Amino acid sequence: MKSDDIFQERINLIFWLRIFKEHALFIKKGLTYDEDELIARAHDFYNLFDKLQNRARRIMGTPPGHNSELIEESINAVGELLEFKKTLLRLIVQCESTFNLYPLLITHTVREADEFLEIVSEYQGQKKQISLPRDLLGDVTFWLRGMKEHTAFLHHLIDPSERILLDKLRDYNQRFNYLFVRALDLESMLKSEPDNFPAVSNFILELILNLKDLNQFQDRVKTLLADCKLLSITGPLFANHLIRETEYFENLINQMKAYFKL
Ligand SMILES: [Fe+2]
Ligand SMILES: [Fe+2]
Repeated sequence: MKSDDIFQERINLIFWLRIFKEHALFIKKGLTYDEDELIARAHDFYNLFDKLQNRARRIMGTPPGHNSELIEESINAVGELLEFKKTLLRLIVQCESTFNLYPLLITHTVREADEFLEIVSEYQGQKKQISLPRDLLGDVTFWLRGMKEHTAFLHHLIDPSERILLDKLRDYNQRFNYLFVRALDLESMLKSEPDNFPAVSNFILELILNLKDLNQFQDRVKTLLADCKLLSITGPLFANHLIRETEYFENLINQMKAYFKL
């Protein structure tokens, strides 16, 4: 495992472009029927990311450096989508419009766009070294915050009559909240610049087990939604989106675990 492989994994264009395409779709579906202009813009973003994702698929496997044009276009597209998301968020928090979109969900997708732009700028800046445990914990806190929010979103999209499943989601939300706060604690302890920090290795192992468990749970939810056996105001694509983000996080953690021999 080389640090280059970790950079390649982080910048996985097919993963990110599909994520942004789906953000555009979720936004489009969450806008109210009278917002014609915003719906049209969300639709255009969906088509734009669909085309970019297809191009990314076609050049898959070509050596790094051969995709610089696509990366440039992706940066521009993500930058524009980011501004669109912020506009929607402003409309909501200023109570100028109400949509069927939670502000926390929009700001969550804003953070994902910011994360992509930061990863690409590190990649283009030729950042070669990954430092343990600072970079590792940076990724961990970012994605753990996302994981705990995913459980909150699902909780608010599933019908209130689904009491047992909602109880489970509350448990996952609490567990991932604890893991997130623990990651922040460890990150702040790093400021003492220890020569080694075995508690981080233990935390990473614990995290891997919890992610596997969350992934299986989300997969069950996706199947129930696909089979129309779970009442909700969302569909299997939303669960699938969350699963792909969990898997991206799991891959990242597993690669770093191998790289740093944790
Ligand atoms: Fe997302
Ligand atoms: Fe997410």
